[in-house]
Amino acid sequence: MIYFDNAASSFPKPITVSKAMIRAVNVYGANPGRSGHFLSCMAEKEVFSCRNALADMFNTESENIIFTANCTASINLALKGFLKPKSEVLISDMEHNAVVRPLEKMKDVFVKQVEIDLYDDEKTVENFKNAITNKTSMIAITACSNVIGKITPIEKIGKLCKENNIKFLVDAAQLGGVMPIDIKKCSIDFLALAPHKSLFGVQGLGVLVLNDKIKLDTLIEGGTGTNSESPLMPDFPPERYEAGTIATPAIVALKAGISFIKERGILYIKEYENNLALYTFNLLKDIDAILYTKKIDDTFSGVLPFNIKNATPNLVSDYLDKNGIMTRAGYHCAYPTHKKIGSEKDGAVRLSFTVFNTKEQINVLIKKLVSLSRDIL
Ligand code: ALA
Repeated sequence: MIYFDNAASSFPKPITVSKAMIRAVNVYGANPGRSGHFLSCMAEKEVFSCRNALADMFNTESENIIFTANCTASINLALKGFLKPKSEVLISDMEHNAVVRPLEKMKDVFVKQVEIDLYDDEKTVENFKNAITNKTSMIAITACSNVIGKITPIEKIGKLCKENNIKFLVDAAQLGGVMPIDIKKCSIDFLALAPHKSLFGVQGLGVLVLNDKIKLDTLIEGGTGTNSESPLMPDFPPERYEAGTIATPAIVALKAGISFIKERGILYIKEYENNLALYTFNLLKDIDAILYTKKIDDTFSGVLPFNIKNATPNLVSDYLDKNGIMTRAGYHCAYPTHKKIGSEKDGAVRLSFTVFNTKEQINVLIKKLVSLSRDIL
């Protein structure tokens, strides 16, 4: 079996991830931050150690690490918790529905779409600069497209935000764990993460990393284990945003995922995945596949969409699936990106790699695509 759908959820995970989860369930499966007994304290200690690892990774303090249900919930919290009626938000033309749909629902917020230049980051920054008005209160963009793998110039856009006193929300679902992100250096106010992707955690957990001293409205209220005499949510993070029991097994899995990334080296991971994308790009070109970028350079990640002439993406993906190769076809919950790159008719087949993929696996993929064209089309 060959798995090339890591942008949806990474698989396989390092073995340490499932071991950490099993230990959380079997050894200290109590509720963290609630009771004062030995097992509850043990669970709390493990959760705290994950907060610390995330704080260290993204350069903030551990209380600014908020655990949510998933990356979409993190983005919803930042958008709905911060934006006031009549605010203006700038987004890019490569956003995922996790950004597009909450903003669409917020009828009293004005949204402007700004073009990302796939090959000229300076041009992208210029486009954002020109779009800012005195009403702009937030820029909300993806750090890396889940369709085309383009990494956006977040440090430069963050600088623009800082200069113009605009809040900066970064959807790092596809970049967290692939490239270092320093929220202070990039002037990021809200960083949304998907632990089950390149951070090698599991599904059922999201993270919102906050910069200092921002108080958001809460979207969910409930028990926090603190200030219990008050009917109001606490004023302070992380409890303010973590109503109800948090997902301890998924949190300790994330900690193990982060340790794996540290051991391999995040720069090594980025280069490895980028090289696989480049290797595949060249082989796909040789077999005359339809590609959507002119080139792959280091501003791209290990995500690569393609199509085969005279075949729908679903046909190709189903054929590959029957031959033991897993990909994702369609629009990838990011239709604007498909419109941008010209694959809006049926979408594309997407390949997405991690360090567990190899060039040998890609050679098998190419052989299967050649036999698809020969036998079926
Ligand atoms: N957003 C995820 C993807 O890109 C699920 O496949």
